[in-house]
Amino acid sequence: MGKKGHRASLTLKVLCDEIFGRANFVANVIWQKKYGAKSDSKYLSESHDHIIVFAKSKDKFTINRLAKTEKQTSRYTNRDQDPRGAWKAGDVLRNEARDYAIFPVTLPSGRQVMPPPGTSWRYTKEKFAELIKDNRIWFGVDGNARPAIKRFISEVTETIPATTIWTYDEVGHNDESKKESRAIFGDNIFATPKPERLLERVFALATDPGDLVLDSFGGSGTSGAVAHKMGRRWIMIELGNHAVTHCVLRLKKVIDGEDSGGITENISWQGGGGFRFYRLAPSLLEKDRFGNWVIAKQYNPAMLTEAMCKLMGFTYAPSLEPDAYWQHGHSTETDFIYVTTQSLTHDALRKLSEEVGPKRTLLVCCKAFSGREASFLNLTIKKIPHAVLTKCEWGRDDYRLRVANLPVAEEPSAENAADEAEEPSAGAARKRGRPRKADTTEGPLFAELALNPKGA
Ligand SMILES: C[S@@+](CC[C@H](N)C(=O)[O-])C[C@H]1O[C@@H](n2cnc3c(N)ncnc32)[C@H](O)[C@@H]1O
Repeated sequence: MGKKGHRASLTLKVLCDEIFGRANFVANVIWQKKYGAKSDSKYLSESHDHIIVFAKSKDKFTINRLAKTEKQTSRYTNRDQDPRGAWKAGDVLRNEARDYAIFPVTLPSGRQVMPPPGTSWRYTKEKFAELIKDNRIWFGVDGNARPAIKRFISEVTETIPATTIWTYDEVGHNDESKKESRAIFGDNIFATPKPERLLERVFALATDPGDLVLDSFGGSGTSGAVAHKMGRRWIMIELGNHAVTHCVLRLKKVIDGEDSGGITENISWQGGGGFRFYRLAPSLLEKDRFGNWVIAKQYNPAMLTEAMCKLMGFTYAPSLEPDAYWQHGHSTETDFIYVTTQSLTHDALRKLSEEVGPKRTLLVCCKAFSGREASFLNLTIKKIPHAVLTKCEWGRDDYRLRVANLPVAEEPSAENAADEAEEPSAGAARKRGRPRKADTTEGPLFAELALNPKGA
């Protein structure tokens, strides 16, 4: 779902048509974001935004229904003390004249009524008589009103589909979100926050507990905060500094149970859970003045090593032992990676190979090398930046996310040990190109903050 103002919503619809296909358009929801007219509006005072809803594949798409609100259930009363409980009066007329359903009905008062011209009863004569006998037709307190069907709350479905108009009393408005923002951030209020109730509605319809919510425009972190409180997993992306000043601060409060605003009280949120914070590293490669790819100047040796570990699927863990200078990371207990911007001679490679020995394997990432790689059975040698370039996709129209080396939550150590024991041979694993277990120990380049899960 994407939320946008008037002009942008039209462009967004066209963009989404291109991405998802027109057939996958579900609805354009109107959100009443303001309750009063803006007196300085030149044309019309805009009081709503659009939420454009698309499905990835509409045939398979399902959407949740909403629980009936108190306002909706309060229309049910029990004016005749019916033992079946509260009911509300429903129409017994059809806006079409069907001959078999045009007949007089005698009210308890004795008066007879007919369906008005152009209409007919919804029921046959027999069915109508049956309903009257079962006390399911209401004729008013004095028994002289036109008939109505009694619809019992116990017999109607408890949920209803959401409509395409979301009013501020149901899902909040801009002033509500400003208040929420002030309660969390004080004077450092975010310029364009959304009310938590609005996101709650979106997630209630489109997700179930445990589902993953992605918001690539995190802002002040409303989507993450609401998803977290609702038991959904979430990913937020934010390029501004408010990723730190707002998103992190807010989510810490949510986790610590210190955010009492928004939907907290309504859903009895008390805190818990955790999250990880990652900072996108600068581009590893850049072009020199001759148009050749070279390692970007911002990269110092430690950053380069960490980045290469990430790319090649190794855990970044430089050894502190002077003799193990070549152990920059590992994929198993016996498979290591060594990253250097040097050009390695045949002699240097021979020395490395001897140090690694017959029981271990080493992936060497260097600027260049001389000699034949095949001479060293325990070494695999790759050149930077060639090794990086082969991991990237360039000049394509379709950049689908490849998630092979995304980090995953750490497994209990016993399980890790079991996984590693299953590795047949580190070198063999690499040569066969088998996907590696994701790197979970993030160093400073990729992971800035990891909040320890609190019971989640
Ligand atoms: C309208 S705000 C989102 C507000 C959010 N719904 C809330 O309740 O706080 C849009 C956010 O998207 C961020 N943004 C814009 N372009 C981006 C990009 N390419 N990558 C990541 N974030 C981006 C902006 O910095 C801004 O914080």
